[in-house]
Amino acid sequence: MIRVGLVGCGGIMGAHVPGWKAVEGRAVVTAACDVNEENAKRRSSETSGSAAIYADWKAMLADGVVDAIDCALPHHLHRDAIVQAAEAGKHVITEKPLCMSLAEAADIESAVTSNGVVLVCAHNQMFEPAPRTARRWIRDGRLGRVFSLRTVDCFFAGGGNTVDWGWRGKLDTCGGGCAIDTGYHPTYMLISLANAAPTEVVSFTANYNQPTLEGDDSAQTMVRFANGAVGTLQTSWGYGVPNGHWQIAAIGEKGQIYGRGNTLYFQPLQGEVEKHELEPENGFVGEIKHFVDCIVDGVAPEQGLYEGVTVLKVILGGYQSEKEKRVIQL
Ligand SMILES: NC(=O)c1ccc[n+]([C@@H]2O[C@H](COP(=O)([O-])OP(=O)(O)OC[C@H]3O[C@@H](n4cnc5c(N)ncnc54)[C@H](O)[C@@H]3O)[C@@H](O)[C@H]2O)c1
Repeated sequence: MIRVGLVGCGGIMGAHVPGWKAVEGRAVVTAACDVNEENAKRRSSETSGSAAIYADWKAMLADGVVDAIDCALPHHLHRDAIVQAAEAGKHVITEKPLCMSLAEAADIESAVTSNGVVLVCAHNQMFEPAPRTARRWIRDGRLGRVFSLRTVDCFFAGGGNTVDWGWRGKLDTCGGGCAIDTGYHPTYMLISLANAAPTEVVSFTANYNQPTLEGDDSAQTMVRFANGAVGTLQTSWGYGVPNGHWQIAAIGEKGQIYGRGNTLYFQPLQGEVEKHELEPENGFVGEIKHFVDCIVDGVAPEQGLYEGVTVLKVILGGYQSEKEKRVIQL
């Protein structure tokens, strides 16, 4: 039985709760850590009901009460929590972004590899049926050579001078704005679908609608991949999903794949469009089941160190391109 410590028991940890319930019998939440004690107690009562409550993850790691952690802290704390957990020999599933800089990513890479622990990046949308199946179809060659990709994650987060963005509103605790936060989702989907390493990025970021946010509220980014495919992604907290756009879309020499959630379409170059209604899966549940499979059965992480670092490189490269007004080689 894997003993799990929840670290950062705020908003998104609530979405992880069904995942930990789905793996009962294989994993149990034995600790919940948050500087806000009420949050830790709430997540304990929603899961095992018997987690030890901590305000400091170092004390939790030192007590030897967990084999793995689920990290959902504000961005500026990811590196320290992941590195310290790995150094204590604990496996890690972490919310996005992996961390805030490539120097931090190098620390994580070294701690994870030298201690031989599992690291899974909680790229939840890649555990949703449409993106996950599209990735498999593309890897199986259903599109042939991939030409063009498009991914989107936008929502209007409210606006005006009264919005309190908390740690997300500050560059030193968020690491940027929407592009490094919600923008992580369309970025990892783009990379996962391209089935090749990103080689160049250019991004245009802006803040249209969120005056109390220090960072960007919107980004439109283009990425070229080593196989010649070019992808565009769009993310925003300032406006909703652009009309007529899918969560994911890919075009290749044999046709097109597009869809969202549980529904995926394949449009061959010639012939009728196929609509596929896929077995529903909650992405948060899927990623936690996968994490347990990686620890217990030795399955290789589908979204691991390489994926987490590669997404970060594209996003930071995008910010650099906006600052320097040029295309960045990755
Ligand atoms: N996958 C998704 O769709 C998704 C959605 C939202 C957030 N997230 C990610 O989840 C993470 C958390 O975001 P959130 O929206 O839940 O934020 P949040 O502010 O709601 O929760 C963060 C929690 O961490 C706690 N915390 C802060 N400092 C701490 C410390 N030093 N030690 C222990 N606990 C501490 C806070 O008290 C709070 O309960 C971020 O990385 C964010 O990008 C992912």
